[in-house]
Amino acid sequence: MFITLEGPEGSGKTSHIPYLVEYLREKGYVVFPTREPGGTTISEQVRDILHDLKNAEMQPRTETLLYQAARAQIVEQVIKPRLDAGEVVISDRYYDSTIAYQGYGHQQDLEQVRALVKYATGGLTPDLTILLDLEIEVGLKRKTQNEMEWNRMDAYTVEFHKRVRNGYLEMVKQEPKRWVVVNSNQKWDNVQADLKKIIIAGLTK
Ligand SMILES: Nc1ncnc2c1ncn2[C@@H]1O[C@H](COP(=O)(O)OP(=O)(O)OP(=O)(O)O)[C@@H](O)[C@H]1O
Ligand SMILES: [Mg+2]
Repeated sequence: MFITLEGPEGSGKTSHIPYLVEYLREKGYVVFPTREPGGTTISEQVRDILHDLKNAEMQPRTETLLYQAARAQIVEQVIKPRLDAGEVVISDRYYDSTIAYQGYGHQQDLEQVRALVKYATGGLTPDLTILLDLEIEVGLKRKTQNEMEWNRMDAYTVEFHKRVRNGYLEMVKQEPKRWVVVNSNQKWDNVQADLKKIIIAGLTK
């Protein structure tokens, strides 16, 4: 089973995943966590380029293609082999992030972006995608208050990030069977409990 966590900046994806992995392992599942962009030696190098605040001149099309390069590598090198071995793969972001950020955020042609994503992934779609939904201002504030890494993507305008969030909500409407929305604007423990419930429901379906 391939599970992906999506959502705007500071919505909690990275902080929740280790606890979900531990919980599922205790239940006997073989779980492999990964993240995008990154998760392989090559993809982590691409991540550094994408996140580096020095690369402020990066064009939306360059950004879109770099994400697909990193993604193509992790899909072939890590995700597909793990899924083929029967493992549960949980990814911190996947291709929906490209539709949300490079598509809706940068207002690029969605059909063209979807075609690139399909090329990069070979058509590999998650079985379950959870949107950790949160007001943009709250998420960005969490990141600054907690002195989290502030990268080139975080530094886009609030309007950009609002388009990203609305894009996610639009995608949920388009594919309601794959997506589940979790309100991330609640206590961390409550969010964690919601995530566990949804994932177990997905795994035992
Ligand atoms: N429900 C919550 N309540 C309060 N703070 C939270 C909550 N969830 C996460 N945080 C805090 O918000 C910050 C951002 O969380 P996290 O890094 O997990 O978000 P993220 O979704 O991975 O963000 P990004 O997309 O920027 O990587 C962290 O300091 C985290 O501890
Ligand atoms: Mg994160």
